[in-house]
Amino acid sequence: MTAISPPGSTKFQIDLRRHLREEEEDRDLTRVICEIADASKYIINAIRTGDLGLAGTSNLYGENQLALDVLSDRILRKRMIHSGVVANILSEETSEVIEVDPGGKYSVAFDPLDGSSLVDVNLAVGTIVTIYEGSDLLQSGRNQVAAMYILYGPRTSLVYSTGRGVHEFCMNQLMEFTLTKENIQLQPSGNIYAPGGQRNLYTEGTEKYVSSLEEKGYKLRYSGGFVPDINQILLKGSGIFLYPHLRDKPKGKLRLIFELNPMAYLIEQAGGKASTGRQSILDIKPESIDDCAPIFIGCREDVERAEEYIARYG
Ligand code: AHG
Ligand code: MN
Ligand code: MN
Repeated sequence: MTAISPPGSTKFQIDLRRHLREEEEDRDLTRVICEIADASKYIINAIRTGDLGLAGTSNLYGENQLALDVLSDRILRKRMIHSGVVANILSEETSEVIEVDPGGKYSVAFDPLDGSSLVDVNLAVGTIVTIYEGSDLLQSGRNQVAAMYILYGPRTSLVYSTGRGVHEFCMNQLMEFTLTKENIQLQPSGNIYAPGGQRNLYTEGTEKYVSSLEEKGYKLRYSGGFVPDINQILLKGSGIFLYPHLRDKPKGKLRLIFELNPMAYLIEQAGGKASTGRQSILDIKPESIDDCAPIFIGCREDVERAEEYIARYG
């Protein structure tokens, strides 16, 4: 991993657009990524000062939507519609594909505000985005052409990949994203674990696996926000996150299209691995927009060990 310059440093800084240009990225894809980065400035504002109450509506999982979920969704959707390069849009907060422009080169799916129920207790949350070429958003994650997330923590950071490494940008005083780390890489195995889901509902394989991590002295690091939890593993270069299959929920909780595929793409780009415990996340062909899957994601050897436990004990 190459550390560039500390966020906020006055040294010459490479911003997101310039980085994409230097990578000779497709102009339309650059457009989509920069529009999302711009949209995040308005989402930050909503998080900082917006209404924390319910919107009075529910999403496709039957969960109550917060006013912030709805507003973040609207901010992103508007940007994507006006970008002029997007064919279809899909959001965790809406139940169907929004057809924008059949001539658009890319289609985009997003979780506008992951972890939104953590905003009222002032914990970190994020926006997760996946991008495909063409109009089909029900493809396996292997076909993603880009994935990114924006993390709203004490600082705001953006991590993206277009298949040529994973790069981190932090927002500066002018609200520009400037390069802070290039080509982020994970170690083969780690020393932290982030276990999601209720422990007394774990299957035997997951329980034995997590106990084995604890016996080895792995440190517990679970915030309840998928974006900060994955960001910690990526940026420290170490660890595993799991939200496994549970006895009462064989597909776990997290959503394949909006949450798992983009994170799996980023982690694999950084040399890590993402698995349901039985197959690679990126190889799953989604059957429906709201598909969920169990996930073990992070350092390669840690994920492979989880797969061994699941194969042996279920
Ligand atoms: P969302 O806010 O989009 O519904 O998703 C929240 C997710 C994710 O951020 C986190 O890893 C997980 O839900 C936490 O679930 P638990 O509360 O079951 O730990
Ligand atoms: Mn989410
Ligand atoms: Mn969400």
